[in-house]
This record gives sequence, C-alpha cells and structure tokens, in this order.
Amino acid sequence: MIPTKMEDLINAQINAEMYSSYLYLSMSAWCSDKTWNGFAHWLRLQAQEELAHAMKFYDYLNERGGTIKLAAIAAPKADWKDIPAIFREVYAHEQKVTGMINAMMAEAIKQKDYASEIMLQWFVTEQVEEEANASEIVATLEKIGPATGGLYHLDQQLGKR
Ligand code: FEO
Repeated sequence: MIPTKMEDLINAQINAEMYSSYLYLSMSAWCSDKTWNGFAHWLRLQAQEELAHAMKFYDYLNERGGTIKLAAIAAPKADWKDIPAIFREVYAHEQKVTGMINAMMAEAIKQKDYASEIMLQWFVTEQVEEEANASEIVATLEKIGPATGGLYHLDQQLGKR
C-alpha cells in the first residue's frame, strides 16, 4: 500500500497537472484569438503534455492500490497583456510545479517509499526540460523586444513544434 500522505500528494498533483493543462489551453485560446497561431500551437501541445502528466500520476496511484480523488479544477485566467507576459507566466508556473515535485520527492525519501521515489525521478528530469524550454522562449522574447517581425518569426518557429 502507498503511504496516505503520498496518496494525498499524488491526488493534489493530478489536480495541479490538470490545472496546468487548463491554464495552457486558456493561453492557447488567447493566442488563437489574436491569430498568433504558432504560439497557440505550442501552448496547445503543452496543454496535452500536462494532461499526460496527470494521467501518469493517475495510473501510478491506481497501480499502487491508492484511491483516486478528483477535485474541482480552478478556472484559469483568460486574458494577458501580450505574448511575453504569457511566456513569463508559463516559466513561473513551471518553477512552481518543480517545487511541488521536489516536495513530493522529499516526502517519498522521508517515508522510504522507494517506488514513489523512482516514479518521481521521471518528473524531476521532466521539470528540468520544462523549465529550460520556457526560459529559452522568455529569453528569446526579451531579445526580440517590441519588434513585430521578430515576434512573427518566433511564432512561425514555435508552430513547427
Ligand atoms: Fe507537468 Fe509542465 O509540468
């Protein structure tokens, strides 16, 4: 059996990953609305990845004989100032998620829950990539500044993801 505290943390993380998916889908919708189709595409794929993360935790909890408890998913915001504001928020959100994964890992180690530790290692690695991807986009947007041409080029590039 999985320790109760870990079961609670995984259930909370299923909700957090679902929320991430919702947030990125809302950002994608904002970009589509402004015909930034490449950014919309990137964010939509990211929303799908977050859903896959939620299901990875879901399957793991099932396999360990835990009880899945699905809570309400909070409504994400729906408006942003501009494209850089969106990606700054993506980066900040990923940093927050990394903190949650690290707290889970610390609990798994404390509880000597080795199976959860091994499962969480995948997420620790994943978060390094998630943060790197977001911070690279933020850095590129900072270089571009207010130049619409540069923004258009990045939109085209991210549309190829
Ligand atoms: Fe599920 Fe973007 O971390």
